[in-house]
Amino acid sequence: MSMSLPLIFLQLLLAIVVAASQALPGCENLCGNISVPYPFGTRPGCFKSDYFLVTCNSSFNPPKLYLTTSLIEVTDIFLSGELRIQSWIARDCYNKQHLRVVKNNPWMRFRKFPVSHTRNKFIAVGCDSYAVIKGSQGRKYTTGCLSLCDSIDNVINGSCSGIGCCQTIIPKEVRSYNIRVNSYDNHSSVWDFNPCSYSFVAEDNTYTFSSLDLADLQGRTSVPVVLDWAVGNETCVAARKNQTSFACKQNSKCYNFDNGPGYRCNCSDGYEGNPYLSNGCQDIDECKISSPCNMTCHNLPGTYVCSCPEGYQGDGKKSGSGCSRIPRKSLPLINIALGISISISVLLLGGSWLYWGFRQRKIIKLREKFFEQNGGIMLLQKLPKRDESVQSSKRTGSAKSFEIYTEECLKKATNNYHESRILGQGGQGTVYKGILPDDTTVAIKKSKIGNKSQVEQFVNEIIILSQINHTNVVKLLGCCLETQVPLLVYEFVTNGTLYDHIHTKTRSTSLITWENRLRIATETAGVLSYLHSDANPPIIHRDIKSNNILLDENYTAKVSDFGASRLFPTDQTQLTTLVQGTLGYLDPEYFQTSQLTEKSDVYSFGVLLVELLTGKEALSYDRPEKERNIAMYFVSSLKEDRLLEIVDQQVIKEGKAEKLKEFAIVAKGCLEVKGDERPTMKEVAMELQGLRTVEKHPWVNDSNNAEESHSLLGELSNAYGGDENTRISASYDSMVNHVISPFDDGR
Ligand SMILES: *[C@@H]1O[C@H](CO)[C@@H](O)[C@H](O)[C@H]1NC(C)=O
Ligand SMILES: *[C@@H]1O[C@H](CO)[C@@H](O)[C@H](O)[C@H]1NC(C)=O
Ligand SMILES: *[C@@H]1O[C@H](CO)[C@@H](O)[C@H](O)[C@H]1NC(C)=O
Ligand SMILES: *[C@@H]1O[C@H](CO)[C@@H](O)[C@H](O)[C@H]1NC(C)=O
Ligand SMILES: *[C@@H]1O[C@H](CO)[C@@H](O)[C@H](O)[C@H]1NC(C)=O
Ligand SMILES: *[C@@H]1O[C@H](CO)[C@@H](O)[C@H](O)[C@H]1NC(C)=O
Ligand SMILES: *[C@@H]1O[C@H](CO)[C@@H](O)[C@H](O)[C@H]1NC(C)=O
Ligand SMILES: *[C@@H]1O[C@H](CO)[C@@H](O)[C@H](O)[C@H]1NC(C)=O
Repeated sequence: MSMSLPLIFLQLLLAIVVAASQALPGCENLCGNISVPYPFGTRPGCFKSDYFLVTCNSSFNPPKLYLTTSLIEVTDIFLSGELRIQSWIARDCYNKQHLRVVKNNPWMRFRKFPVSHTRNKFIAVGCDSYAVIKGSQGRKYTTGCLSLCDSIDNVINGSCSGIGCCQTIIPKEVRSYNIRVNSYDNHSSVWDFNPCSYSFVAEDNTYTFSSLDLADLQGRTSVPVVLDWAVGNETCVAARKNQTSFACKQNSKCYNFDNGPGYRCNCSDGYEGNPYLSNGCQDIDECKISSPCNMTCHNLPGTYVCSCPEGYQGDGKKSGSGCSRIPRKSLPLINIALGISISISVLLLGGSWLYWGFRQRKIIKLREKFFEQNGGIMLLQKLPKRDESVQSSKRTGSAKSFEIYTEECLKKATNNYHESRILGQGGQGTVYKGILPDDTTVAIKKSKIGNKSQVEQFVNEIIILSQINHTNVVKLLGCCLETQVPLLVYEFVTNGTLYDHIHTKTRSTSLITWENRLRIATETAGVLSYLHSDANPPIIHRDIKSNNILLDENYTAKVSDFGASRLFPTDQTQLTTLVQGTLGYLDPEYFQTSQLTEKSDVYSFGVLLVELLTGKEALSYDRPEKERNIAMYFVSSLKEDRLLEIVDQQVIKEGKAEKLKEFAIVAKGCLEVKGDERPTMKEVAMELQGLRTVEKHPWVNDSNNAEESHSLLGELSNAYGGDENTRISASYDSMVNHVISPFDDGR
């Protein structure tokens, strides 16, 4: 007892220190009662970069905190990536003679911190007022609203819709603003009850209009505004490459900032604290905080388990079945005189057998629970009927039948998920290389600790993949549902992702020749055309990108990752969904309207074509601003006749001018802003197939090759001067001629 006492003290002390300090060691954690968490800091050495400097002025009581050394007062800093400031109010006031007496047009600039577009509104108050907010978000923007009324009796308390008060939303990425408010008529007809016009940006739900505000805004001089903050200027993927500068520390997650460049960190589920500090995210002791278990609770890093003592059954959770006593028949005591020694040995033997039996039962119970949690039931309902119990792994049948693997089997196959077996790590989970008992090599995807939506995605992928049988789609061999996190087993594709081959410079780039690029594009187009037109019901992949195209030893494309894919009901032409996909590949029309159609895949595929053509990443914050989005840069380069400048050197060397041109035109068609104007995947696939046929059999093409490569530059730059529409339709015509040949070959 005396030994454990100091330990408890130490733990208590640690808990207090951790709970209190969100700043770097040795740095001020509070300004008055405002918490100053890292990456913010009040002096050099305490903040992450200059942007995060805040100044605490203790000559006020309570002390006041300011953004950098400005006059902008900060009232709260939240680790969720927001901070609250006090913003000034614009006024325009008149005297009884209708002459202006006050005119304030505040201007605020926040450098790295954009105004939260979701949490603020622009508001104007007055009965003869129009207000304008101007600012810069890289682009300039101007918006505003106007508010009129004749009498104070017309206004409605709490309503801000144009009578005495009006409001509008703030666009994204606003880092500075200038507010002006004016009157039409110097308030001459409303002066009695409303001598001034006011306007301001304010946090949503903190300002409620009242008729009393028309007199003097009830004495307000500033209003709260919420700003967003994020660290870095790149995406999570790019930032993670340099672990020393990566801001998200242990047990935290990274997610991309949606209001400008950069990323934010959040403690993983089951942890709390400051994710930007080393060891800042601390395990939550669920057992102490919410005591979720009925009898015994064990806290584990990031989670907890409930258990029941021997002789009880149930899941142990208060919210679940709790623990209840197992009804057990009491064994009648045998004649003691027969010999205590015998009965003791029998009891010992029997006891250990019973204990073993209970343990096995518990493990089986746990597996069954996980099976259920992981959507096993849903899966069984949706998969075609099977003759045997799902628990069995000894299914015989054709080689490509879908297999349910046991936990042990996969554990053995991956050498207990050994680090050396990791093939890749992504947002959805980790992929391991596995070797099954029959010596086949497979890839095993282990999802992250499953929340419900991930389990749904997982079941979704199984259902979709089990319906596809296509040489260019990665084969799903089976899955395991008995573990806490679901496992998927795929055929092993030896040569990594297309992304690696295009963008990793250490690899020999010569292998991914122009001919290979053209073939990979054609094969991928073939898969998408098949999914859109031949699968029943049609399937939209929703996440086409070079990371999801795997290559085998012959550089044959295998499309993977159907976690986000959608089965498309045939009786509907569009589907409203939560927008999902990868930035840089995401269809802008779908992004705006949330209406999913198969044309969204066409757009993403267009980006992939551009990536193949230029060898540049779809989205990169390392490039100058106008080149960040390769698709947009490509389209504008085409317009300005500068295509050649962005085409990969290797492609220029190997490809023929005519073909590159047609390839670029196909890509441009896919990238049309309006989905309706993009070709279907079938058309794209046919056109690429046509290009390939000519590429493979150069005798079909009668032009003089030597001359052509000499004049490459001239031709390419001329190609986009004319009427693009006629050029596109002309290329569709030529496609028909090309497509005839592969079938004539006797395939
Ligand atoms: C700080 O103190 C003021 C009053 O002293 C109080 O209104 C405010 O809610 C406090 N803020 C925090 C974050 O505790
Ligand atoms: C604190 O605020 C007072 C009053 O505005 C000002 O005079 C003083 O210079 C400020 N101190 C610092 C350190 O900025
Ligand atoms: C309105 O106010 C402006 C500025 O004080 C003044 O120049 C103008 O004469 C006024 N107009 C009327 C109609 O009172
Ligand atoms: C609005 O509310 C204030 C006080 O809450 C009250 O004095 C005023 O009369 C109300 N105005 C109207 C138009 O209801
Ligand atoms: C990683 O970041 C650190 C700190 O910013 C820097 O010193 C180092 O050069 C970076 N390493 C690479 C490989 O960029
Ligand atoms: C960050 O983590 C907290 C606590 O786990 C959670 O409530 C919140 O939704 C997370 N935020 C994001 C953006 O994931
Ligand atoms: C555990 O659950 C049982 C039945 O669900 C209930 O009777 C008992 O009071 C619970 N015990 C605790 C400590 O919550
Ligand atoms: C990103 O930030 C780093 C250091 O803060 C800077 O060197 C680099 O130029 C920035 N990149 C862009 C694209 O702004």
